[in-house]
Amino acid sequence: MSAFTHHIFICGNQRSPGHARGCCDADGSEQLRTAFKAEVKRRGLTPLVRANKAGCLDQCELGPTVVIYPQGIWYGNVQLEDVSRIIDETVVGGKVLEDLLIADELLNTKGGTIQPSSSDDSAAETGAK
Ligand code: FES
Repeated sequence: MSAFTHHIFICGNQRSPGHARGCCDADGSEQLRTAFKAEVKRRGLTPLVRANKAGCLDQCELGPTVVIYPQGIWYGNVQLEDVSRIIDETVVGGKVLEDLLIADELLNTKGGTIQPSSSDDSAAETGAK
């Protein structure tokens, strides 16, 4: 049995203004993390549900980014007004919110740009084109 039914990681990474990839908590306020923690506590979901600040989750262009494990549900562009809905519908109700979901094919693409496949990487390592 896992320690948590839902472990919610909220990206709180900050970068300098104008950074090409942006960041999920530009003002460093941690408002999103604080809202998740408060909502989990308010609903009495602890200790089986936990919300933690995370460093960069590498989905910066699609942020603010939240991932819920062990389900592996990735949400992007998460706003404060989404927090109670995520807790209600995903954590309690087991429903994936399609409007926030980062599709599998967009994960690790730096916002939708398809990255070279591993075979291309190996070609680059060997100098082959
Ligand atoms: S800064 Fe949040 S995912 Fe990278």
